[in-house]
Amino acid sequence: MGWLRMVVVGLMVVIIAHKLSKMNKEPPLPTLDPNPWWAPGEPQQEDVSINRFNINFSKKEVDDLKARLALPLRLTPGLEDANFTYGINADTLHTIVQYWRKKYDWNKRQTRLNTYPHFKTHIEGLDIHFMRAGAKAGSAKNVKVVPLLLIHGWPGSFVEFYDILPLLTNPQEGSSVVFEVICPSIPGYGFSQGSSKQGFGQLEAAQVFLKLMKRLGYKQFYLQGGDWGSLIASNMATMYPNNILGIHVNMFTINTPGANLKMVLGALLPAGVVVEEEDQHKLYPLSTFVSMMARESGYLHLHATKPDTIGAALNQSPVSLAAYILEKFSSWTHRDNLHQPDGSLLQQHFPISLDAMLDNICIYWFTSTITTSVRLYAETFNKNFVSKSLDNIPCVVPAGLVTFAHESVNSPKSFASHKYYNIVTNNDQATGGHFAAMEEPALLATDLHQFVNIVEKKRT
Ligand SMILES: *[C@@H]1O[C@H](CO)[C@@H](O)[C@H](O)[C@H]1NC(C)=O
Ligand SMILES: *[C@@H]1O[C@H](CO)[C@@H](O)[C@H](O)[C@H]1NC(C)=O
Repeated sequence: MGWLRMVVVGLMVVIIAHKLSKMNKEPPLPTLDPNPWWAPGEPQQEDVSINRFNINFSKKEVDDLKARLALPLRLTPGLEDANFTYGINADTLHTIVQYWRKKYDWNKRQTRLNTYPHFKTHIEGLDIHFMRAGAKAGSAKNVKVVPLLLIHGWPGSFVEFYDILPLLTNPQEGSSVVFEVICPSIPGYGFSQGSSKQGFGQLEAAQVFLKLMKRLGYKQFYLQGGDWGSLIASNMATMYPNNILGIHVNMFTINTPGANLKMVLGALLPAGVVVEEEDQHKLYPLSTFVSMMARESGYLHLHATKPDTIGAALNQSPVSLAAYILEKFSSWTHRDNLHQPDGSLLQQHFPISLDAMLDNICIYWFTSTITTSVRLYAETFNKNFVSKSLDNIPCVVPAGLVTFAHESVNSPKSFASHKYYNIVTNNDQATGGHFAAMEEPALLATDLHQFVNIVEKKRT
């Protein structure tokens, strides 16, 4: 590093530090309308009953899906040797659609999805769905039952959690807690109704989920989430610290002035000065990170600006919907999967079963929710939400952070303290990607147990 560069970096540090010291005033907690109405029309008296239901799509709906899958495919052959680098590969999609038509058995899968009881209740005008997985402490001694709100993301759903739930609800070696788990569907996803009015974003979802937990009798509970789940959980922990015992997230990006300054300085200064050596690969070289983001984040811009257009294109055909979602399963489990002819999706070692991915796609299809699901981006990446500056309001509840090796976007460990002021665990896992609950349920469950055990020990 030449002396000139040293001087330039030094000057930058002084200028930026000066600017930061002026702007480190914490923004106030945003105020939300405590009783909005998101359903069509004028507010009405709300029925607050909680009703059990089975997932049970009619024969007509299932036959309709089969008929659509049986239509001749209109796939454009992929470019020679392009694999997934231009998006999903046509041959792979063809193979999966044939499997979906001929081998995948919805009725059997539906029975599996009903292993846990499903419920709906009304909140702020919307039908809100949740699945409940009861704690099974059994005869285990000295095991405490603690409530957990477990929140999915996009393009996921409550389907993400079937493999991890037994590891949370049953006693585990070395853990003195078991979880009573509530898995809701984010409004606009699966069986939770989408808003009919503009302005329902992740903060509004946080308020709905707090009301849900209170209605179920939980004044205080733990949170776990990835993707949107981690953002909604983070908002809940920031907005309602008195209700949250601890937050555990398997995806976090820290977007505060301090963390952003570290990101820039980390690119200019030698490894280890700002960002730990073992965390360098999460961001640097910055050019690799930026080009990866440019390549992989087009969907985000589209969702954030024209959700109804992409929604219309995807909701008309199950093949189109599957193409869009499967590509994300491929690239978000490992970014190099795009260099495999089948995006790794059909390989024996792919960490998520084809059946589980199709279950998830079926939920989007049967409930016809792809459009409402992607509107969440438009309600988040806008002036109204950004101006609330939630990233700059500290989260003071105990936090457990975990980074899976192939997560699409990671922050170095040392950035986390700019948002989370009470970090209890902050672990790296050597395997796994964006869909941690599906890919590495045991690692995620163990990490969560470890975090909650430490927090519980401190509480008593
Ligand atoms: C689904 O609905 C059908 C027809 O109403 C009924 O016969 C069947 O028992 C239901 N299955 C489940 C799992 O609720
Ligand atoms: C596509 O996959 C083939 C076979 O694995 C490989 O040889 C080739 O380099 C890959 N090309 C791209 C662009 O990913």
